[in-house]
Amino acid sequence: MRTPPRLGLNNGVLIDQLGFGLYKVPPADTAGLVAMALDAGYRHFDTAAMYGNETGVARGISTQLGTQAGTGGSGELFPALAREDLFITTKVWNDHHGYDATLRAFDDSMVNLGLDYVDMYLIHWPCPRRGLFQETYRALETLYREGKVRAIGVSNFLPAHLDRLLQTAEVTPAVNQIELHPWLQQHELRKIHEDVNIRTEAWSPLGRGQVLADPVVQACATEHRRTPAQVILRWHIQLGNIAIPKASSEARIRENLDIFSFELSARDMEALAALDRGQRTGSHPDNVN
Ligand SMILES: NC(=O)c1ccc[n+]([C@@H]2O[C@H](COP(=O)([O-])OP(=O)(O)OC[C@H]3O[C@@H](n4cnc5c(N)ncnc54)[C@H](OP(=O)(O)O)[C@@H]3O)[C@@H](O)[C@H]2O)c1
Repeated sequence: MRTPPRLGLNNGVLIDQLGFGLYKVPPADTAGLVAMALDAGYRHFDTAAMYGNETGVARGISTQLGTQAGTGGSGELFPALAREDLFITTKVWNDHHGYDATLRAFDDSMVNLGLDYVDMYLIHWPCPRRGLFQETYRALETLYREGKVRAIGVSNFLPAHLDRLLQTAEVTPAVNQIELHPWLQQHELRKIHEDVNIRTEAWSPLGRGQVLADPVVQACATEHRRTPAQVILRWHIQLGNIAIPKASSEARIRENLDIFSFELSARDMEALAALDRGQRTGSHPDNVN
């Protein structure tokens, strides 16, 4: 079994540096893919109310809890999978910003997920035109103090949004989950995160698959006898990012986790660093409201 390294969040909670992303995973496929990912060795899952597949996540987990998920047929004996082994993130959607609405949205997600606590709860987008993210975050702080979530954070926050949030936040966000891949390296945000002790979590870590065709990535993959996806995910790990690739087949799910037995050289890292061109594959955070 492959085991991703764990990183400490700013409150001491540990998170697997590589997780499994569930955006655009159809609800009907979710349970099967989650069970497959658990068997491959993933323990960290990233969903959201907006993805409409939280109940599928619950079903996938429930089929594996208590089993020896992750033995990978090696015959080795692993302890039975327990709730504490998992790290489940979900997010409050844009139409539930505001203190009371967020508390209600959280309760709905807990019911959907069939959990009595969530490992991490994030504000999905800052929605600057709504002007409610500070109040929304106050609800996350309440949930955190009540022990219903082990860590709280944000997603898609630009420097100006973080700046405003940190003026009123009593709990520093544990992560900012942002679009990040070799074509969009987010130097400014990564520096800010480091300064204020927020972990950088990369969404669309493969650039929605588009960056896999980049010739520099391909050359690096050939040199290491790895796939382009493995090279990019290894790059994230060496930069210290948390990465949550999504994949739809068992082969890709396993391939994306098999990145802990090789290393990119300083020269490889420099070549990949040179690919930054500020190119988003998703929306700009100021335009989502
Ligand atoms: N917070 C946010 O606003 C936000 C926004 C977007 C995403 N996210 C999170 O980030 C996760 C990942 O982002 P993403 O799904 O947009 O993009 P991604 O993980 O960068 O890329 C997924 C694409 O790459 C393909 N792929 C995966 N592994 C591959 C491999 N080994 N070889 C070839 N192709 C491969 C997948 O194909 P198949 O599926 O066909 O295998 C899919 O088309 C999401 O699932 C979600 O959890 C968060």
